[in-house]
Amino acid sequence: DWKTSSFIEEKVNEIRKIVGAQKVVCALSGGVDSSVAAVLVHKAIGKNLFCIFVDHGLLRKGEAEEVINTFKGQFDMNVIKVDAKDRFLKALSGVKDPERKRKIIGEEFIRVFEEEASKLGDIKFLVQGTIYPDVVESGVGKAATIKSHHNVGGLPEHMKFERIIEPLRELFKDEVRRVGIELGIPEKIVNRQPFPGPGLAIRIIGEVTEEKLEILREVDWIFRKEIEACGLDKDIWQYFAVLTDMRSVGVMGDERTYDYTVALRAVTSIDGMTADWAKIPYDVLERVSNEIVNTVRKVNRVVYDITSKPPATIEWE
Ligand code: XMP
Repeated sequence: DWKTSSFIEEKVNEIRKIVGAQKVVCALSGGVDSSVAAVLVHKAIGKNLFCIFVDHGLLRKGEAEEVINTFKGQFDMNVIKVDAKDRFLKALSGVKDPERKRKIIGEEFIRVFEEEASKLGDIKFLVQGTIYPDVVESGVGKAATIKSHHNVGGLPEHMKFERIIEPLRELFKDEVRRVGIELGIPEKIVNRQPFPGPGLAIRIIGEVTEEKLEILREVDWIFRKEIEACGLDKDIWQYFAVLTDMRSVGVMGDERTYDYTVALRAVTSIDGMTADWAKIPYDVLERVSNEIVNTVRKVNRVVYDITSKPPATIEWE
């Protein structure tokens, strides 16, 4: 619509005026806000925008490839992919406490981002996908360091950028999505369900290991695929799998097994503050469960989480 296209035009002009011929850097996570902000800035200044995509190894199956294919492939943007899997796994080794995991991941993310950004020389401008609810949440004046504990996109105060560019500051989520569509970003990305910055690390109860990540990625992929195949993704706010730290006895052929229990979590919600468990039809749950235990090694039990928020949270950690 005209409102969306005039917003884009206005921002493009504004960004060009501020930045001129200088370089700009941004942290691209593949989330809705950072994606829309990056494409908007790219529309304004093209190859002078450098997007840094930190692959912390805690993403879902296929996600890193999708981000690279879309932004580097389709949009021909400068995307620097940093494979930091080993660093994150090492930093997380032995850590079981959820808040410590968050802190470690947040700090490591900043370190990796800083290292990459400094390789680009002296860059004065940083793009952030801050949207209006973030501005409100962090209080006036603090938006530049939004939710640094909460959002992997948040950057520390000591990173000296002359100016933070936040083209989506006045927009609500639905408006950001409209701008994204208008900019030609695939619907799959624009309508993506929320995904926490610390990623799968807070969906693995207890210590995070490569083996657990592999198991969870497969299980989560099966659940997502089935939910999307039956069209339930339009009604469900978030749907994902959790790898519990519990093992239980099962039987496979003539053999006794002692393997992991996975939990499926799906909730309906308006804003994530409160949520209700989604009433997924039994036949869908049955298909998902069968496929999981038949194809994923080391999983012999599937449970469905039927608690609302409050008292539970959406995530398990
Ligand atoms: P909870 O689990 O608190 O989650 O009910 C509410 C919403 O926030 C997301 N979430 C996070 N997002 N970093 C993030 O960027 C985090 O550490 C984090 N923890 C929870 C969660 O996915 C849900 O959308």
